[in-house]
Amino acid sequence: MISLKTVLLCSLWHLSGSTHLNFPSNFKFGASTSSYQIEGGWNADGKGENIWDRITHEYRGLIADNSTGDIAADSYHKWRDDVKIAKELGLDFYRFSISWVRILPSGFTNHINKAGVKYYSDLIDALLAEGIEPMITLYHWDLPVKIRDMGGWTNPLIVHWFGDYARIIFSLYADRVKTWITINEAVVMCDFGYNSGVFVPDIKETIFAPYLCNKHVLLAHAKAYRIFDKEFRPKYEGRISIANHLLWIEPSSFKDVELAELAREHMVGRYSHPIYSKKGGWPPSIEKLMLKISFEHGYKESRLPPFTEEEKKFVQGTADFYGMNFYITYLIREAKPGEDTGLWFLSGSPELNAILEHPPNVPYGFSKRIPIYPKGIRKQLAWLKKQYGDIDILITENGFSVSGVNLEDYERIQFYNQYLEQVLLSMHVDNVSITGYAAWSLIDNFEWMDGYTEKYGLYQVNFDDPERKRTPRASAYYYACVIKNHSLNDTCLEKKYLIKQSKLTLTGNDGQILENSRKLLFIVLFLRFMFNH
Ligand SMILES: *[C@@H]1O[C@H](CO)[C@@H](O)[C@H](O)[C@H]1NC(C)=O
Ligand SMILES: *[C@@H]1O[C@H](CO)[C@@H](O)[C@H](O)[C@H]1NC(C)=O
Ligand SMILES: *[C@@H]1O[C@H](CO)[C@@H](O)[C@H](O)[C@H]1NC(C)=O
Ligand SMILES: *[C@@H]1O[C@H](CO)[C@@H](O)[C@H](O)[C@H]1NC(C)=O
Repeated sequence: MISLKTVLLCSLWHLSGSTHLNFPSNFKFGASTSSYQIEGGWNADGKGENIWDRITHEYRGLIADNSTGDIAADSYHKWRDDVKIAKELGLDFYRFSISWVRILPSGFTNHINKAGVKYYSDLIDALLAEGIEPMITLYHWDLPVKIRDMGGWTNPLIVHWFGDYARIIFSLYADRVKTWITINEAVVMCDFGYNSGVFVPDIKETIFAPYLCNKHVLLAHAKAYRIFDKEFRPKYEGRISIANHLLWIEPSSFKDVELAELAREHMVGRYSHPIYSKKGGWPPSIEKLMLKISFEHGYKESRLPPFTEEEKKFVQGTADFYGMNFYITYLIREAKPGEDTGLWFLSGSPELNAILEHPPNVPYGFSKRIPIYPKGIRKQLAWLKKQYGDIDILITENGFSVSGVNLEDYERIQFYNQYLEQVLLSMHVDNVSITGYAAWSLIDNFEWMDGYTEKYGLYQVNFDDPERKRTPRASAYYYACVIKNHSLNDTCLEKKYLIKQSKLTLTGNDGQILENSRKLLFIVLFLRFMFNH
């Protein structure tokens, strides 16, 4: 044990020295957005209708402020501003998504919309001209209405429809785009979407739909991967994966250790094990559980649709890296007799007979769904490595929400600093291979059910201004400084520095100084060390 402690202490001291505040030279920084959230131009130049157009235009009170993405940040017209911002920040890459119906207005390949093709082509060229790598997400939740009407992700034919769409996008842009994400946060559209019924696809069906969707997403992703691999990679090269929304789950007490592991398989494993594990297919623990409860409830087969051997092989290995969106850490405990198990993955799980709770005494941004618990990201990264081996991990989203128009978002700076510290620890101490980090988000945008009440942007967007003027927040100067130094340099955290850069006038709390990140990091680790040993 002594030697283990010594090793641990050494690595702590090591990290608190300045060299280990540095990111590896090949580590890339970026920022992310998605089409419906920023583009607007909802019916411009021949674009078709997607489910977000449809749901927001029904004004049923589903969206907090009854807003729509009709104009959003107007990136359909203001994309040059976005490129300028990406350049100002010094981003290595910019991750944006393609609106399926902007390219294929009906959702199908019968008609390709030239204006849509040109829009993304111009954006890609402008990014490349500034030395910024374009990274494309094929699908970020804006399903063509016609496909939703035919069952959307519960219809197995979507695998072929998605493949056809993917092939067209590759054929248009794979000459210039070298990093691809097929589908964003499938667990949100499958599990949260169908379980809650207050999100797209606007259907509540908790028994079969989440699991059908889960399976078809994996097959559709694999289809796109195979098409890329066979038809485009030989000519253009490039890397392709899927971006999963990971929720780190800790046991509430020692009694819940096994339950927590099962819950991780339910949350992360169902979307990862079929792709990244050595055996392929569903996580065995979940497959067993779903079969058992399906029989108990009188079904003749598992509600989790099995993979054929052929399908297993088709999905297995279809990722060149692991794409990880990370925001949330929850605790899990067994439900008490008769207790309402709520809704997966917000409040609990009927399948697991479990309740999800927030970690105690943690801060929040504007979103009360998202407890700020920086250590969660490091634990999640370590778990991925343990489960799936030494795959490269790209953090495709991580970010902090505020409300209102405040440009002095020091809490967001603290958030990024604390989470990036954990990313450094993961690389330097846990030896996890992390290739890059994307902040969510480049600019304020339409935050789904929260409309414009919630702001994630490094740059503020004035949604009252027809020009949709973009203004850097303090966090933009902080992030640009970290990128430039390629290090969590304390200089970047100093309020004096940030104010000088941004020429902000301070209102109130003038004396407040941001925590010295390295001291804090050391104290936290030291306490953990003391309590764990
Ligand atoms: C949104 O619109 C619905 C239907 O018109 C209305 O009932 C609701 O009060 C509105 N909510 C807000 C926040 O404006
Ligand atoms: C870190 O992981 C790599 C494999 O990715 C391995 O080759 C190397 O030996 C590991 N280093 C340490 C210090 O464990
Ligand atoms: C770190 O970033 C700051 C702000 O951009 C800059 O003034 C400084 O020169 C940078 N240092 C290095 C070593 O890049
Ligand atoms: C931060 O950057 C400044 C200037 O670039 C440099 O002098 C200083 O040593 C750096 N600090 C750390 C902790 O790396």
